[in-house]
Amino acid sequence: MEITHIPAGSRSAADIDEVLAEVVDFATIINRASGLGTDFDPRSDEVRQELLSDDGYVTHQTWIGRLGGAIVATGIAYLTLRDNLDLADVWCSVHPELRGQGLGSELLAEMEASLAAQGRTQLTSYCEIPTATRDADLRGAHLAAESGAGSVTAAQPDVAFLSHHGFAFKQLERCSVAKTATAAKLSRVDLNAGYTIETWTGPTPEHRLEQIAFLHQKMSTDTPDAEELGEEESWDAARVRALDAKREENRELVATALALKGESAAGFTEVAHFDDRPRVGWQGSTLVVRDHRGHGLGAALKIANQQAVGESTQVERIYTWNAVENSWMLAINDRAGFATWAWVGLWKKRLA
Ligand SMILES: CC(C)(COP(=O)(O)OP(=O)(O)OC[C@H]1O[C@@H](n2cnc3c(N)ncnc32)[C@H](O)[C@@H]1OP(=O)(O)O)[C@@H](O)C(=O)NCCC(=O)NCCS
Repeated sequence: MEITHIPAGSRSAADIDEVLAEVVDFATIINRASGLGTDFDPRSDEVRQELLSDDGYVTHQTWIGRLGGAIVATGIAYLTLRDNLDLADVWCSVHPELRGQGLGSELLAEMEASLAAQGRTQLTSYCEIPTATRDADLRGAHLAAESGAGSVTAAQPDVAFLSHHGFAFKQLERCSVAKTATAAKLSRVDLNAGYTIETWTGPTPEHRLEQIAFLHQKMSTDTPDAEELGEEESWDAARVRALDAKREENRELVATALALKGESAAGFTEVAHFDDRPRVGWQGSTLVVRDHRGHGLGAALKIANQQAVGESTQVERIYTWNAVENSWMLAINDRAGFATWAWVGLWKKRLA
């Protein structure tokens, strides 16, 4: 296999546009084979951005494997540039008709060698298993997550591939989906004294940049098992502005609900959607800061934001991800009408 490595920013826009349709078509084939559904098909804008540029805070590197000129495998690594400099989140995929012939292994070996040479020796990865796929093999051997909660079927190709290549299965997440129409019928949660919730759509208002930066930073420490998957991220107003600018470029509209106690940030939740797929929403970060837990803010934030999304956008359904040990968040989501769509395994490997 002939493998080309494309770190974002290393090629001209004209060069990227030449391969873009082919890369998107390949990613669509991979997604259709996964059983996750067309909502998860790649978006051309996003793939283009991943190939073309970084925002100074995060970047992508892409590997394209070809046989006889055609793309047969791709790999992607997501790298943060200001913190976690030894970390890379990697994912590779092989054409469904060419699996089991060593192409995935060949690509991963190339990715690992390149990332290690860049000092990225801590790898994370993930596998996504639709509920129907997992339910079809309930009696087969299962691999338990090191978190102690949840398991995946050992015979699943991606599970077998990651274990075979020395990744350890750290944590299981539930991906679930809810209709915004269900949230519209829920009653808002009464807030304890001193707490307020603000909602907005689009870039962070200037006077909330500091609070949102603080909450993003806490996302990397105040979530279950966060320490397993990387060190504390560093966020400031400039990084929030850069994220907002990148979202705008990616035609990503984000609805945010922010909980405040006075002027202090207590929690937030975000739901994104893209203007070329306006009916599908993606739950982003949700966090209630440790000191403010136990006041019902998680449910209050989620319900307020979903209702705002339902009222101000065309979004009909929202997908969300939660660690299975995060039982309080799952209970909130159950109340908000979420039902399981897929299981996502989070994996980690330390390169020698
Ligand atoms: C996971 C994936 C990339 C593997 O690619 P591949 O080219 O089929 O993998 P390889 O042929 O290199 O397999 C290497 C090892 O993985 C394991 N493996 C891969 N597919 C397997 C399967 N269907 N059943 C059991 N083991 C399997 C085996 O241990 C195999 O080693 P072996 O050949 O010594 O038995 C491919 O199935 C794929 O594209 N899946 C969809 C994308 C995805 O889920 N990616 C997540 C992983 S980053």
